[in-house]
Amino acid sequence: MKRKGILLAGGTGSRLFPATLAVSKQLLPVYDKPMVLYPLATLMHAGIRDIAVITTPDDQAAFQRLLGDGSTWGLSLTWLVQPRPEGLPQAYTLAEGFLAGSPSALVLGDNLFFGASLGPQVERAPLGGATVFAARVRDPERYGVLVLDDGRVVDMVEKPADPPSPWALTGLYLLDGTAPARAATLRPSARGELEITDLLRTWLDEGALGVEQLGRDVAWLDTGTPDALLDAASWVRTLTVRQDTVVACLEEIALARGWIDTDDVLERADRLGPTAYARYLRSLVHR
Ligand code: TTP
Repeated sequence: MKRKGILLAGGTGSRLFPATLAVSKQLLPVYDKPMVLYPLATLMHAGIRDIAVITTPDDQAAFQRLLGDGSTWGLSLTWLVQPRPEGLPQAYTLAEGFLAGSPSALVLGDNLFFGASLGPQVERAPLGGATVFAARVRDPERYGVLVLDDGRVVDMVEKPADPPSPWALTGLYLLDGTAPARAATLRPSARGELEITDLLRTWLDEGALGVEQLGRDVAWLDTGTPDALLDAASWVRTLTVRQDTVVACLEEIALARGWIDTDDVLERADRLGPTAYARYLRSLVHR
């Protein structure tokens, strides 16, 4: 069975208020494109093209204006809504019908990954069990932190005051086809949400939770606060300008995979008008 994708782009974005009072965090730009395109690129880099996009009820129409049915990039998108932000595992109860027993990759709509080794790492991961991706960070107390022993996960702690390791749990999870059934058994935590660590723990208890440490070439950025968002935008701008490229260019990924052809790319460039982005698309065809 092929791995399907889930892009979770609901939430309240309260740490970015008032920027997110009228628009979803995941539709805010990160330099030259809306945030949600970056995690979508992460799934595409792993060869995943059958993807459910989960949004709040209010924001769904705006996301659909941006992404449509996904055919611009040779994708098949399924649209789901999360009525209230009751936690990440809810993605699985909502997506149960979409998954129909398939293994999946869940990516959070505000998690940005840059680096060539990640796509193949996801593609190589086993379809059974669960695999998480760990990033070495300077401030692990802000994240879920993994306790590792000889490269294996032995425990997970949420936002620990005294972090047991520098390895943070990133917003990319590969779960097998049992995820919806497991999510259905969870109860809300003290803060009233279903917790992803509780879902992952069901595999950990069975000795079936694997961890992949991100390669040194892979950068992981989140965008939950004004400073993190500006840092991410600066990062993208630096790469874009210095290398005269477009970072997380969905058309480029789709073209390389043969999901769209050069005519599709030129059509898209025409639609995007006199922008640096459109110029880049034309350069992909005419090089
Ligand atoms: P968070 O950053 O934990 O929450 P948030 O985006 O609502 O922001 P804030 O904490 O500032 O209020 O969410 C991480 C990602 O997961 C983000 O992309 C939103 C998404 N999310 C949902 O789609 N549904 C949910 O129930 C939760 C908790 C998060």
